[in-house]
Amino acid sequence: MNITTKIVEKYSTDSKIFFLFEDALTDASLLESAEKKAVKAIIKSKDFEGKNGETLLLYLEEKRLFLVGLGKKEEMTIRTWKHAVGTVAMVAQKKKITACSFLLSKKVLSSLEVVQMAKTGTVALSNALYAFDEFKDKEDKVVEVKKVEWILEDEKVKKEFNTGIKSGKAIAEGVEFTRMLGNTPPTQMTPEMLAKEAKKLEKTFDTIRVKALGKKQIEAEGMGCLLGVSRGSVLPPRFIIVEYVGKKEKNPTVLVGKGITYDSGGLSLKPDPYMKDMKFDMLGAATVLGIIKAAAGLKLKRHIVGLIPACENMPSGDSFRPDDILTAMNGKTVLIENTDAEGRLVLADALSYAHKYNPKEVIDFATLTGACMVALGNERSGMFTPEDELAEKLNKSAEIVGEQVWRLPVGEEYSKAVKCEVADIKNLGGVGHPRFGGASTAAAFLQFFTSDKKGKSYPWMHIDLSSCYYGESGKSYIRGGANGFGVESFIEYLK
Ligand code: BES
Ligand code: ZN
Ligand code: ZN
Repeated sequence: MNITTKIVEKYSTDSKIFFLFEDALTDASLLESAEKKAVKAIIKSKDFEGKNGETLLLYLEEKRLFLVGLGKKEEMTIRTWKHAVGTVAMVAQKKKITACSFLLSKKVLSSLEVVQMAKTGTVALSNALYAFDEFKDKEDKVVEVKKVEWILEDEKVKKEFNTGIKSGKAIAEGVEFTRMLGNTPPTQMTPEMLAKEAKKLEKTFDTIRVKALGKKQIEAEGMGCLLGVSRGSVLPPRFIIVEYVGKKEKNPTVLVGKGITYDSGGLSLKPDPYMKDMKFDMLGAATVLGIIKAAAGLKLKRHIVGLIPACENMPSGDSFRPDDILTAMNGKTVLIENTDAEGRLVLADALSYAHKYNPKEVIDFATLTGACMVALGNERSGMFTPEDELAEKLNKSAEIVGEQVWRLPVGEEYSKAVKCEVADIKNLGGVGHPRFGGASTAAAFLQFFTSDKKGKSYPWMHIDLSSCYYGESGKSYIRGGANGFGVESFIEYLK
């Protein structure tokens, strides 16, 4: 996609897109007089009221004019903007329009910060236009939108907008990478393939180094939990290490991502319909890779290490079993009560491994529990951390980019719930009932591995990715499947 900016006199496409608030047409300087007249008449008729998400298509002398509502100006947020840009881009793409001009009046631009608007708008555009359609017949693929121009009224704004677009493009590439990895079918997006995709980053960016440990090396590291989960699969596990050095730091930020390339539940097999969508169980890993790709594209002055334990969770004659006791890399033993609670197991080894880096902070991303989805729905992800400072920082970052997280508790009652009679800890536990508080007991399980043998621990935050994919029909501004949640927030967090 080729996105350019142009100033008002020079727009060069046949399809204009005009944003307006829910009021009389008080700001129409970018429209020609015939257009102004038509828009005024429509507003008067109330066929279009400028409500948030509302779109209308007009034809004026063989040219198209899309109207997009932003709702009330005083209620405008970056989320409103994101959804409006995405919605109209998808409407236009479905009409097979390959070039269009977005008209941005001074009034619209004054409602939010300009650079942020350009950045988020660029990501929203890219998100709206992306489709996972490589398996579809040529005629059924979406059209490629080749040119988008932003029509702005003055040079200063244009300069700021260009800055935002540049960053937005790098972020969008990270987001798209996450979505592609997540959407690819599980028999193709195997642990080995995930490692290959990570290696591609090393080829593209000279600031990235990738190492993928194979089964032998994983054994040598003593990652008994990752090995336990993977043994039911015919595919060997990988432990992928991605290091981005934009600036050498003594204490890097470590990002850990759950990379279960398929979660059948293992011997505790998932019943129908719960196995569906379990190709997305590697979206934690994909989020980490997307963040690192975007960070490298932006040349962030940071040192970031990504750790990805990758394997499949499958039933077989050689699977790990309920009643097994596995030994994690840090020597702690884990009783298996249910093989479907596998994410916390592979993360236990990765969180243990993270100590090697003497990290400033460790953030893990995982499609860890159905319980988090039950609690929050799929428009927000769960955030768990004992550190108020990290929580506040992430809340702020998410708000700036229009993503949503909600803090859920970790604490003594949840930690107690995973204590075990026959091993150090068990992989299932609830407060008051084996399944009560499932998202928090899963988090408390992970927390157990954030201190090393000497009891030294690093600042840690866990993200339960309950909002990382949508059902088939998607939203008006993004198609279904993996949605890239988290990349924008964490780029804001890390910068
Ligand atoms: N990958 C699942 C969690 C999940 C479920 C993510 C649905 C997204 C959508 C995880 O491995 C799992 O199966 N968790 C179990 C834990 C239970 C056995 C304690 C769950 O949530 O039911
Ligand atoms: Zn599972
Ligand atoms: Zn899982």
